[in-house]
Amino acid sequence: MSEKKIIAVIGATGAQGGGLVRAILADPSGGFGARGITRNLESDNAKALGELGAEMVRADLDDVESLTAAFSGSHGAFCVTNFWEHFSPEKEIEQARNLATAAKASDVHHVVWSTLEDTRKWVALEDDRMPTLMEHYKVPHFDAKGEADRFFTEGSVPTTLLRTSFYWENLIYFGMGPQRGEDGVLAFPLPMGDKKLPGMASVDIGKCAFGLFQRGDEFIGKAVGIAGEHLTGAEMAAELTRALGETVNHFPVSFDAYRAFDFPGAEDLGNMFQFKHDFNEDFTTARSVEFSRSLNGDLLDFRGWLAKNGEQIPRH
Ligand SMILES: NC(=O)c1ccc[n+]([C@@H]2O[C@H](COP(=O)([O-])OP(=O)(O)OC[C@H]3O[C@@H](n4cnc5c(N)ncnc54)[C@H](OP(=O)(O)O)[C@@H]3O)[C@@H](O)[C@H]2O)c1
Repeated sequence: MSEKKIIAVIGATGAQGGGLVRAILADPSGGFGARGITRNLESDNAKALGELGAEMVRADLDDVESLTAAFSGSHGAFCVTNFWEHFSPEKEIEQARNLATAAKASDVHHVVWSTLEDTRKWVALEDDRMPTLMEHYKVPHFDAKGEADRFFTEGSVPTTLLRTSFYWENLIYFGMGPQRGEDGVLAFPLPMGDKKLPGMASVDIGKCAFGLFQRGDEFIGKAVGIAGEHLTGAEMAAELTRALGETVNHFPVSFDAYRAFDFPGAEDLGNMFQFKHDFNEDFTTARSVEFSRSLNGDLLDFRGWLAKNGEQIPRH
């Protein structure tokens, strides 16, 4: 009979949850089992995880009963929502409420909720240093997650609030990498002035979450933050220059210019960078690299991430 502690993983087919499922399956002690949760058991990602040894089950963040069934009998649950699929903070809050309700109903022993700060605790809505978005938010994809923390904490769900960092993969998949200027030189547009941006390999979020589950009850009822390295835009550009073998200059775009970019979510991200810049000490202090490494011995710094992934960064 299996004595494994099952971790039910939301977002198993995605970046954060996928890192966790793979970390559980690769653990030589074998003390934990992975239950990957997806809306589509037939997707290539879902099938690949099944072949690796994960139990794959279907559930939807919009359907609390499906979540309760998917969490049933599990020791732990990793909970994440995907703002960028719908761009609705209200929907994200509702999905987080469903996760907390399901975790409570199925008596999960330890939840790790992947969250971010409610920036309105630092910048009131009437503070006009940055625009208010969608009437109620400063950084919608942060504020919704932070607002939803209370469903876990006030609902007495045994939870670790896990504050994550900027994925360096954004340089590959999110159009945030270096852009070639008219002079032919690569410029790395990062609206952080001379302040440090905590960043990490997205896969390390799952590995750190696994560390939290492995440490037993130590972090239940606590908020923790993780990052692989804190770097300024100029420091990131220097590492990019080294990895790509050609000059990359940091281009410290203004927050207003970033907010005016023509892509969905530009205002949200412009406000996000301004929040990280204006409250840099609080934001970086909340994400200790040393602590992250204590959870995950494989934690990558930016140079290590570039050595593995640098070739995928577009250079046009
Ligand atoms: N990009 C960054 O720098 C960064 C940094 C920190 C935090 N974040 C946050 O990370 C979150 C996204 O996480 P990710 O990057 O791991 O996602 P991802 O790689 O885009 O994958 C999304 C995952 O969410 C699952 N999912 C989405 N809607 C669902 C629903 N209704 N029911 C069940 N599962 C659902 C998908 O599962 P199926 O499709 O298989 O059902 C998939 O596994 C966002 O909220 C973002 O704000 C991003």
